[in-house]
Amino acid sequence: MRLKIAEVPGDGIGPEVVNQAKKAVDAVCARFGHEVEYRFAKAGACAIDEYGSAYPEETHKICMESDAVLYGAVGDPRYDNDPTAKVRPEQGLLAMRKQLGLYANLRPVETFPSLVHKSPLKEELVDGADFLCIRELTGGMYFGEKGRLDGGDTAYDTNIYHRFEIERILKLAFEYAMRRRKHLTVVDKANVLESSRLWRQVAQEMEPQYPEVRTDYMYVDNASMQLIRCPKFFDVIVTENTFGDILTDEASVISGSMGLLASASIGEHTGVFEPIHGSYPQAAGKNIANPLATILSAAMMFEYAFGLMEEGRAIREAVAASIEAKYVTEDLAGEGVPARSTSEVGDWVADYIRNA
Ligand code: IPM
Ligand code: MN
Repeated sequence: MRLKIAEVPGDGIGPEVVNQAKKAVDAVCARFGHEVEYRFAKAGACAIDEYGSAYPEETHKICMESDAVLYGAVGDPRYDNDPTAKVRPEQGLLAMRKQLGLYANLRPVETFPSLVHKSPLKEELVDGADFLCIRELTGGMYFGEKGRLDGGDTAYDTNIYHRFEIERILKLAFEYAMRRRKHLTVVDKANVLESSRLWRQVAQEMEPQYPEVRTDYMYVDNASMQLIRCPKFFDVIVTENTFGDILTDEASVISGSMGLLASASIGEHTGVFEPIHGSYPQAAGKNIANPLATILSAAMMFEYAFGLMEEGRAIREAVAASIEAKYVTEDLAGEGVPARSTSEVGDWVADYIRNA
């Protein structure tokens, strides 16, 4: 197969971790006989510097013309403490999601046996936890009408959802539940929010179409507690944009390091594959960041964008092997486990894929 990949590393550690993912992609392509073509494009602060826009037209064009987007991270401390900044790197990510119609963000949370001791939760609570968070990504407060009134002293963001947006994400969630352990948890705040009541109404209407799926409903405040109290309860979680943003950060540390969590954003046009961590500016250029989340995002890219399951598995196996072999970056290192650099881990994983 010929794979056209848009390479959008973004800011901070983005370029370093994306480079390691490319090594894994190249190794898989060599082993399974695929041809790969990368097209580089900018987004985030680096794009603002060059084009004055965080998601320039050129970048959008390249993404649209590709079969998948391999994305790093956006964000730059230059913008963080300036609420008056006119353009912000994060707008690049939001514009990309909207323009590519990426309404579903899939964030799987799995645990690696040799890492459960790294989790902030008790080992017996975490060991074996395995769930998929599905976050709606192009609606809700992020994109609803927002603004200022009273000369700036009143501000509002509108949490708006249309039935079609809820239906398409729930359909996906039911389908994923069918392929997994057939348990779906719909997370909302239906005791307070009208938009949540519509979510719950639509979900209840759809339930009879999936009689094998056990569907339950949980308020988001309770869900945030249950996630750390008994993560093994969950199989598939589906929720709206803002709740999903918060819950997936919480969920991400369960496995022991945020540096391990991959994500896929899929929808109407080209899918985007990215680690869930941010641009980690303190580590940029130091060759210390954990590349595994981005490498695992590349595995998701093979599975979700190209339907190449074996190739995806080959990457996953190599990542698992590097963790078993304790060949890891400083976030996972510790007593008796030396810290390897970003590129050393990337090389190890690529070699493993090539020689397995
Ligand atoms: C994420 C990030 C983004 C979000 C930011 C960078 C806009 O936190 O992908 O979860 O809030 O969606
Ligand atoms: Mn987030």
